[in-house]
Amino acid sequence: MALSDFDLVFFGGSGDLAMRKLLPAMYSRDVCNDLPDASRIICVGRDDATQEEFLRMVETNSKPHIKDGPDEASWARFLKRITYVALNATDVSTYQALVEALRHDASLTRVYYLATPPQLFAKICDNLAATGLATPNSRVVLEKPLGRDLASAKQINLDVGKVFAESQIYRIDHYLGKETVQNLLALRFGNILFEPLWRREWISDVQITIAEKIGVGNRLGYYDNSGALRDMLQNHLLQLLCIVAMEPPTSIAPDAVRDAKLQVLRSLKRFTPTTLSQNIIRGQYRAGYIDGQQVPGYREEPDAPKSSRTETFVAMKAEIDTWRWAGVPFYLRTGKRMADRLAEIVVRFKPIPHSIFNQPTSSFQPNSLVIRLQPDEGLSMNLMAKTPGDSMRLKQAELELDFREQFKAPRMEAYERLLLDVLRGQLTLFMRGDELEAAWEWVEPILEHWEQDDSAPAPYTSGTWGPAAASALIGRDGLQWREESLPED
Ligand code: BG6
Repeated sequence: MALSDFDLVFFGGSGDLAMRKLLPAMYSRDVCNDLPDASRIICVGRDDATQEEFLRMVETNSKPHIKDGPDEASWARFLKRITYVALNATDVSTYQALVEALRHDASLTRVYYLATPPQLFAKICDNLAATGLATPNSRVVLEKPLGRDLASAKQINLDVGKVFAESQIYRIDHYLGKETVQNLLALRFGNILFEPLWRREWISDVQITIAEKIGVGNRLGYYDNSGALRDMLQNHLLQLLCIVAMEPPTSIAPDAVRDAKLQVLRSLKRFTPTTLSQNIIRGQYRAGYIDGQQVPGYREEPDAPKSSRTETFVAMKAEIDTWRWAGVPFYLRTGKRMADRLAEIVVRFKPIPHSIFNQPTSSFQPNSLVIRLQPDEGLSMNLMAKTPGDSMRLKQAELELDFREQFKAPRMEAYERLLLDVLRGQLTLFMRGDELEAAWEWVEPILEHWEQDDSAPAPYTSGTWGPAAASALIGRDGLQWREESLPED
């Protein structure tokens, strides 16, 4: 669907996210001629910079993040779309500059993207309302962190909801913009093959892993108050789990999909203090090696509190109390400074009931479907197949679908897709307010328990797959994390 002319306003327009992700994403769409000629990007920031100074900042801080470097003519065209507006987000008297910069044409799409700390959301929305900028057909995009617990998430919903209707609010979870996540929808609901098997009778367990090699970097101030549970699990991992586990929605319409996801979040088995200590492991990285380079431990990172108990790793066994999923463990895991950068979902089917071959049933690897989000995007299905030759021996073999190879189409970054969806008014890949609250409601007992428990997270060496307790968690059920079960290279 072609876009109509828009004014896209980035609050936090000189910040890290705008420079590293948002502007490069818009540039990439511009090069592909997706942006109508008269469309503009208004970057709002606190710095009292002139337009020229701001463009120099974009040149230095944003241009290096463009895939394969920009083409100079398109880059020059792109810069012409940008206007810089300096204002103090909390001071309504400074909004006049934004009023003047925006074109007041009712047919234009107008989007306010709040790439700011969430403490500013309420004030910005109020100020947009007070200056007449929050028109009924404008949209607002909220960047994470969307709260740090249930109460703060509810407050955000309430504050933003006073000014914008739910249908105008786009809550970003950039994982939903990743190609493979949408491919998972295609796989489940565009094929007849999997859906009949997609249930407790045929699936033994599901693993979802998001592992990163990077450490906390320069985000310690934010991260030390957040930790892996809030930063990754409450949002990205739970969203992936929702897409894997949801009932078939009646259509791809926003509320059909979001209702189905909400049902999953509300069916997650609640943890009690006892089940919580048995089923959740938290860890924190120590010094080690990543790609042969020595890296410091979390507590040695610049400005890190020396006795910080912030978790940089979480592994858990979750369950969904529904007819479809009762008793099927969902193992979720995420961590920083791990052995590899990897994001994948592994759906393991049940073993065959009986072997007709001269091989014991136990030598048959159960079928599994691996859905890879990162580093490359693809699917693989593990099957048992006959090995070539005279004897009837079966071995595990892989059916592989590499999306890049298959479609030979250029990849779109998550932010490119999500920004296009906002500009098109397509809400399916954004979280609804009740989803956000349901996710916080489920993690809240964990946060509370950890706050009261003064034990430290289990240490793990950087460059490994996390604390030994995480292997023991899944090992207790006679299973292994996928990388532990793969043959050595
Ligand atoms: C962000 C987290 O939401 O996701 C970061 O705040 C994390 O801590 C990042 O590094 C991971 O995203 P991706 O797309 O690189 O896997």
